Amino acid sequence: MEIEPRPVLVVQNISKEYATARSGSRVVALEGLTFTVNEGEFFVVLGPSGSGKTTLLNLIAGFEQPTSGTLTVNGKPIVRPGWQRAVVFQEHGLFPWLTAADNIEFGLRMKKLPRSERKQLVSKYIGIVGLKGSEDKYPKELSGGMKQRVGIARALAVDSDIVIMDEPLGSLDAQTRSEMQDELLRILQREKKKTVLFVTHSIEEALKLADSILVMSERPGRVKQIFTIDSPRPRKVLTDPKMIELNVALHALLYRSQQQKA
Ligand SMILES: Nc1ncnc2c1ncn2[C@@H]1O[C@H](COP(=O)(O)OP(=O)(O)O)[C@@H](O)[C@H]1O
Ligand SMILES: [Mg+2]
Repeated sequence: MEIEPRPVLVVQNISKEYATARSGSRVVALEGLTFTVNEGEFFVVLGPSGSGKTTLLNLIAGFEQPTSGTLTVNGKPIVRPGWQRAVVFQEHGLFPWLTAADNIEFGLRMKKLPRSERKQLVSKYIGIVGLKGSEDKYPKELSGGMKQRVGIARALAVDSDIVIMDEPLGSLDAQTRSEMQDELLRILQREKKKTVLFVTHSIEEALKLADSILVMSERPGRVKQIFTIDSPRPRKVLTDPKMIELNVALHALLYRSQQQKA
């Protein structure tokens, strides 16, 4: 039986302009974006550098407000940051003075959970992301992949409505990145109905992970097209004919305009 999708994040006609400090001229980072992310969906935002992906995530996280338009999570307008929208940052964003376990516990403190419950959740997520034995290490003692695992555990442990990830694997070497993509899928399979908004500029990463792919235009960032992928995971991104076809379509959308200019 098909279950009716339930919208979690609704973005309606949002634009974001920045005033540049010196000249006072304005930069339009986002223009007229409209889309919906449903419960349990792995929603990928794919776009070239400068297309406003981080700007979009900052609005969803509540770090900034749009110039116009509205954003709601579970029907409530986004007005400030909160644990309901957990963020995994591009450069992991761990507190260097806290251990892996204390970094994960941080969000649970914001949520004001009692100590015993916090300890239980930290231990559960240390296990899920495969960091048993490293819980007392500080970020500087961890590899890039391990730091991202802590960042992911921290975001998942708070049980937010939506997990926002800004190129979380972008700083890893190719092999670790590929392993972490598999790992992320494995972790999310255990987390029922986790809604994820994931930013990347890698087509391959998008194809491997996404239920939906929103393709952004170059600045000002607009929605070019939204694709849905219903192929089961793990996917053979480089050999499955369906994936190859999508790959070609995404390449054409992302790079044709640039080639024409060159
Ligand atoms: N705080 C800011 N002030 C002025 N311009 C900004 C600011 N943040 C981003 N921009 C501009 O908005 C555009 C989109 O940036 P960004 O969201 O970081 O893109 P992406 O993450 O896709 O690379 C860029 O042209 C960038 O220079
Ligand atoms: Mg960015």
